Amino acid sequence: MTRPQPRPGIDEIKPYVPGSAVTGFDGPVYKLASNESALGPSPKAMEAYEAAAGKLHIYPDGSARVLREALAARYGLAPELIVCGAGSDEILQLLCKAYLGPGDNIVMSRHGFSVYHILAQGCGASTKFAEEKNLTADVDALLAQVDENTRILFIANPNNPTGTAISGEELARLREGLREDVLLVVDAAYAEYMDWVDYDEGTSLVRAAIGTGAENTVMTRTFSKIYGLGGLRLGWAYCPPSIAEVLNKVRGPFNVSLSAIEAGVAAVSDDEFVDDNRDHNRRERARVTQRLRGLGFEVGDSHGNFVLAKGRGDAPVEDVTALIEFLKTRGVTVRQMGGYFLPDYVRISIGSTEANDVCLNAISEFASQ
Ligand SMILES: Cc1ncc(COP(=O)(O)O)c(C=O)c1O
Repeated sequence: MTRPQPRPGIDEIKPYVPGSAVTGFDGPVYKLASNESALGPSPKAMEAYEAAAGKLHIYPDGSARVLREALAARYGLAPELIVCGAGSDEILQLLCKAYLGPGDNIVMSRHGFSVYHILAQGCGASTKFAEEKNLTADVDALLAQVDENTRILFIANPNNPTGTAISGEELARLREGLREDVLLVVDAAYAEYMDWVDYDEGTSLVRAAIGTGAENTVMTRTFSKIYGLGGLRLGWAYCPPSIAEVLNKVRGPFNVSLSAIEAGVAAVSDDEFVDDNRDHNRRERARVTQRLRGLGFEVGDSHGNFVLAKGRGDAPVEDVTALIEFLKTRGVTVRQMGGYFLPDYVRISIGSTEANDVCLNAISEFASQ
């Protein structure tokens, strides 16, 4: 009997492993495994979401016009160059679907966001990984991986899970060093947490790519992090006209739900919530980092809403594995990093003050064993 077969390469995909919730724990549980918003969802978004309930029988506006206009007004962009998706994951997927095929490759950093690799595999394309320096993307190493079959170079800035970032100047150097026909995707999922002056979330590179006529750079953004709407699935891209046109051809006609559009519009105007979330993150991230360092963990300076800590001693892999298991017994889940070529590291999302306290106290208990 011959069964239907997926395209070559699909069977080899190791599916993305999402952060798991604690199960079987009799007490309050704290999920610090998925870089979710520490302060919950934007209150304005929640209100709009509830108000949308009576309209759920109506198809959404397929172009998400009001949301694109709200984003354009908020960030000083052209609404017709924004494409919305069910999470930025969908945007990344659409880019791969449109620009990759068998025999092509993508280039990404060794410890870059693993979804790029998975999506490329789904299109029959391979991945070329560039080594990093100090767990930071290395522009020269990335450029060195590009060959005649490279179609897309993905960079998350700041990157998940390392929390490191490169400057606007370095990002521009990456674009300059790339062939014109290679698409550069700047994934700025954590842009709102950044506080560097020389940070470029990607807008100016997209503008430059339009200006030169090369139309080869895209910026992706999400509502899942600082806006707290991960469960709703909402993201967007800022693209040159020809790429926006392509994405609008390959996306589903109603890819963003009516409730996501309405909640998204409200979230974009919720500056107070975004500021609070950013302040909370900065404060708590510094506290978590200091405390972990005090307990003997090597922790870099993160630009995201999470920290990455290396296991201690001569057996760091065993140390983080034991730590993760111990935290589960205290109702806390964090994330193992084996899928990112970092089996000796653990990623801990910054949660509410209470969640961070519980997590830090449990780690301290573990470290004193
Ligand atoms: C770097 C990066 N890009 C993209 C995403 C996808 O976010 P979403 O699909 O929720 O918009 C994530 C989520 O963790 C991420 O860390």
